[in-house]
Amino acid sequence: MRIITDIAKLRKALTAARRKGKRIGFVPTMGCLHEGHLSLMDACRRENGLTVVSIFVNPAQFSPTEDFAAYPRQKKRDVLLAKKRNVDIIFYPSIKTIYPKRYLTYIDVKKITQTLCGHSRPKHFRGVTTVVAKLLNIVLPDVLYLGQKDAQQCVVIRQMTTDLNFPVQVKVLPTVREKDGLAMSSRNAYLTPKQRREATVLYRSLRQARQQVARGERRAATVTKNIRRLIRQDSKGRIEYVACVAADTLEPVKTLKGHILIALAVRFGKARLIDNIFLHV
Ligand code: PAJ
Repeated sequence: MRIITDIAKLRKALTAARRKGKRIGFVPTMGCLHEGHLSLMDACRRENGLTVVSIFVNPAQFSPTEDFAAYPRQKKRDVLLAKKRNVDIIFYPSIKTIYPKRYLTYIDVKKITQTLCGHSRPKHFRGVTTVVAKLLNIVLPDVLYLGQKDAQQCVVIRQMTTDLNFPVQVKVLPTVREKDGLAMSSRNAYLTPKQRREATVLYRSLRQARQQVARGERRAATVTKNIRRLIRQDSKGRIEYVACVAADTLEPVKTLKGHILIALAVRFGKARLIDNIFLHV
């Protein structure tokens, strides 16, 4: 496994691989790797001749009040984990490499970035699409791997790659969870033991919603009300949003029909956790 920090060196390695006819798969991350990230790397390995993983804590997607400085960074451990999963190249750029002095260009996907997480994180997705567009232009992968855990991010990135004609296939893989159901996240490290126990209510509430829909419930308002009630009953988490939206457009729905995303964001102390499920109704 090679660790490359320099764009020109990375491009050279990738051009050589491409000449040999290797399909290139790409997994962008912010590091602090867990089984969620590693599942994307495994799929990428299986389906491509060369696997590139980027590790870059992207300042552009954090607001000044968010956790950019505190975001966990564990380079040594990440390198070991990626190596074990047979990643070919880790791209580990510095902030200056990605955002040199006089950097001026940002990519702004409209509308679908303003709902759900966009309400409390208005510039977040602009930072995400900007860095992902840059990384795609640097790596030029055939396939991009994303996790369903960040469902809105997947929809936004897909929209960007379609709108801007990026020649890349976007693959979204299922959320990897802890044994007790909590979605794996680098931010789970912020939870106190008590919050960690309480946070299991998130997935429990989504599973309850799935059951209620399976039993015939079709009113979005009832489903979200029941999710909120269970979260309030079983935890001290502060609910930011619970929403039923159309999976492709992220527009709110009143009646559950077709491909639906039920998504939520809840704060437990310092940790802002998100989770979601997809339903075919
Ligand atoms: P990060 O939070 O490190 O996540 C990197 C990738 O891993 C994302 O596609 C995310 O959806 C996926 N992932 C995280 N937790 C997961 C889980 N429990 N199961 C499955 N996949 C999971 O998302 C980002 O970084 C950044 O916004 C990035 C796209 C790298 C741009 O900076």
